[in-house]
Amino acid sequence: MHLEVTNLKGKYYITTAIAYTSGKPHIGNTYEAILADSMARFYRLDGYDVRFQTGTDEHGQKIEEKAKNANKTPQQFVDGVASEIRDIWDMVGVSYDKFIRTTDNDHVKTVQRIFKKLYEQGDIYKGSYEGWYCTPCESFWTESQLKDGKCPDCGREVKKANEEAYFFKMSKYADRLMKYYEDNPDFIVPVSRKNEMVNNFLKPGLQDLCVSRSSFKWGIPVDFDDKHVVYVWLDALTNYITGLGYTADGNDDQLYKDYWPCNVHVVGKDIVRFHTIYWPIFLMALDIPLPKQVYGHGWLLQEGGKMSKSKGNVIYADDLVKFFGKDAVRYYVLTAMPHDNDGIITWESVIETINSDLANVFGNLVSRTIAMSNKYFDGKVENTNVKEAIDQELKDVATSAYAKVSKKMGEYKISDAISEIMSIFRRANKYIDETAPWVLAKEESNRGRLATVLYNLVETLSIGLALLTPFIPDTCKKAFDMLGVTARDYQDLDKFGLTETTKVTATPEILFARLDSAKVMEQVNKMIEEKNKEQAKPQVQLHDHSLKPQIEIDDFAKVQLKIAKVIACEKIEKSKKLLKLTVQLGEETRTVVSGIALAYSPEYLIGKKLMMVTNLKPCKLCGIMSEGMIVCAENDKGELAFLTPERDIEDGSQVF
Ligand code: MSP
Repeated sequence: MHLEVTNLKGKYYITTAIAYTSGKPHIGNTYEAILADSMARFYRLDGYDVRFQTGTDEHGQKIEEKAKNANKTPQQFVDGVASEIRDIWDMVGVSYDKFIRTTDNDHVKTVQRIFKKLYEQGDIYKGSYEGWYCTPCESFWTESQLKDGKCPDCGREVKKANEEAYFFKMSKYADRLMKYYEDNPDFIVPVSRKNEMVNNFLKPGLQDLCVSRSSFKWGIPVDFDDKHVVYVWLDALTNYITGLGYTADGNDDQLYKDYWPCNVHVVGKDIVRFHTIYWPIFLMALDIPLPKQVYGHGWLLQEGGKMSKSKGNVIYADDLVKFFGKDAVRYYVLTAMPHDNDGIITWESVIETINSDLANVFGNLVSRTIAMSNKYFDGKVENTNVKEAIDQELKDVATSAYAKVSKKMGEYKISDAISEIMSIFRRANKYIDETAPWVLAKEESNRGRLATVLYNLVETLSIGLALLTPFIPDTCKKAFDMLGVTARDYQDLDKFGLTETTKVTATPEILFARLDSAKVMEQVNKMIEEKNKEQAKPQVQLHDHSLKPQIEIDDFAKVQLKIAKVIACEKIEKSKKLLKLTVQLGEETRTVVSGIALAYSPEYLIGKKLMMVTNLKPCKLCGIMSEGMIVCAENDKGELAFLTPERDIEDGSQVF
């Protein structure tokens, strides 16, 4: 069931920041995707032609270091994390039109063209950089900008950077940027963040920005000087136009022409600076219109402050979804975050919110309405038009909600918008108490009035559900279906009495069950304990996974591989990892010691045929002479799998 959009109001292009592929995103990063998604969904239903872009920021020193620690090439590393991020966005229902990756070829090519263009027109020049670099923030700082010798943004250690570099002439555009702020007072939302930009950065004077790095490799190469890679923020920010098909060579895609300039960049407060100073200046230099607004939202924090792996207090969206379901998680984060401040997430408060808002107010209203419709009218809800004065207040609350919600959405006050919607449901619950349908049901003469009461509830729900759809889409769809009502067009949210006779479901599903906090917390704590234990475990010692140089066929031919059948196997005392295997190779029997005890039990291996190197020099392991090596595959987590012939073949057969 889809809401029909009939009155196209114009284009609406909305973006999130693109997440670093340095690791799995926590619920804070995920919140931003949900926030922008709820806006994209709202404006789609409200009749706009919406384009919604999100994605991943995949270059930079931090990622290069992470990949190295994980024993992977940077590309392998970012491929893994980017798909994890996309999976999480999908899991929480982020309805993006484009998921861009900064390793996408067309993005890379355009960034190179942009860099060259800016260099050729004199906005970028070559010099040398001497200062400090914060790798986690990928930010440059001068000595005087540091706070107690640390990064002024995140408080972490900075590294000395002393390298030949390209610079962008920021100061050249400072006055124009200031004028843009003055002419567009709503450019930065909330206004407190604008004041911060003006007072802390623009007024003291903009310094030229270092826009290339040469001390590491994982970035977009400057194509006319390949010792350098493009500074990750210049690379990342341009995603907003490359994702629309801006090419910087005069062949821009129609999408770019249709949707740029962007209506809003939704970003966290920590990166407002990059979006409201660097980004507009790069765009001015490229002679491209500036985005209309940047909304810098607050951070979702844990009770004790930031989430951190070392504190073991990181909350992930997939764990929350496992416990509470996608829509409850969306609802929680959207309501927990104030418009212009940080919000707090705790497992307990998620449970409280589900119980109070979603189960008691919303779910309860839906289930009472359906239950009474079934009980008194066999599920058939009809407008008998037996009005009473008390109905008006309910109708007013329902029909005035769209204007209020719409205003709040326009101001990025998402939790306020949701609380406007919840007040419809609260009012409807009160209406049930006021009209007491169970009392009306006692008198046959009240049947007409009883039908109108139920009709008013269904009609009110239809308005409320349409408004709530952008925030908890799947649940609203379910509720519409259960009520037997077609999802309502946003143009009709200020009208009452449109629903035709409906037939509610005979078997309603509980949309949000009330949770027993103590019981759920017991399970949550168990999960957290297990995770922390897992994290504290020494990491598996991986074999060397780095790419090896090419070899000749003769090199490979030196290795003798054969199929061996395990005829006996036992654990080796004194060793957790090693097993002693007796294997049959045709006529020959050998003993092999293999480090696969954590992956396989001796019982499992007996009778199996597997691949073995037979010409490795024998060596003693735990006092036992090993006469060969079992060949295994190993993944990034150190999990092993031995290799076995695709169909049965005699032991002793050669592998080549
Ligand atoms: N890669 C840059 C953004 C480049 S945009 C051209 C980056 N990535 S990030 O992964 O660190 O953050 C992605 C977004 O999540 C940012 O907007 C950031 O502010 C936001 N958040 C990070 N932690 C957050 C919370 N705890 N709460 C809410 N938002 C959070 O920055």
